[in-house]
Amino acid sequence: MTKIVIASGNQGKINDFKAIFEGFEVVGIKELLPEFEVEETGTTFRENAILKSEAAKEALNLPVVSDDSGLSVEALEGRPGVYSARYSGEGATDEKNNQKLLEELEGIDNRAAYFTCVLALSIPGEETLTYEGTLAGEILHEPHGDKGFGYDPLFKTLKGIYLGEITSEEKGEISHRGKALEKLMNDTKAFDKLKK
Ligand code: IMP
Repeated sequence: MTKIVIASGNQGKINDFKAIFEGFEVVGIKELLPEFEVEETGTTFRENAILKSEAAKEALNLPVVSDDSGLSVEALEGRPGVYSARYSGEGATDEKNNQKLLEELEGIDNRAAYFTCVLALSIPGEETLTYEGTLAGEILHEPHGDKGFGYDPLFKTLKGIYLGEITSEEKGEISHRGKALEKLMNDTKAFDKLKK
C-alpha cells in the first residue's frame, strides 16, 4: 500500500486525511521522524505549507501532505495571518490570542475577516501541488459558544453561523479546511501520481 505522510502532529488532522486517502497507508510524521520541526518563516500560508511538505519529503523520500491555516482581519491589514497561532507572543494560548484580537479591534466598526487553509502535497520527483480554501465572516465583540478551537468563539460566518456553536463535523462541511480538503480529494491527477 502506498504510504502518505501527514506533516502535522495534530491527530484530528491526521484522521481527516485518513478519511480522504482511502486505499493508502496514512501515517503522521511523528511516527517516522519524532523530532521533525520546521520553522515557519514564510510570509503566506502557501509558503509555510510548502516549506513543511517539502522538508518532510526530502527527509523521507515519501509523499507528504501538510497544511497551514490562520485568520486574516481586514481592518488589521490581514493580521494575525501567518502569526495566528502565536499572535499574543510567547506562551500564546487561544484565550490570550482572542483577547488580543478583541483589544486590537476595540472601537473599529469594520469586523470583516476570513480564515484560510492551504494544503500542500509533495510527491518525490514531482512539483508540489497546493489547494486553498477560505471562509469569510466577521469578528464578534465577545465570545459566542463553547465549541471549536482557536478563534472560533469570535467568528460568525457571512451566513450567520457562529463557529463556536457548531460541531466539528458541521464545521468540516463549511470551513476553509473542508474546502481545501475537497479540492485535494477531487484532484484525480494528483491521485494518479500517488499511485504510480
Ligand atoms: P495551524 O495551521 O494548525 O498552525 O493553525 C494556525 C492557527 O490559526 C491556529 O492556532 C488558530 O489560532 C488559527 N486557526 C486556523 N484554523 C482555525 C479554525 O478553523 N478556527 C479557529 N482558529 C483557526
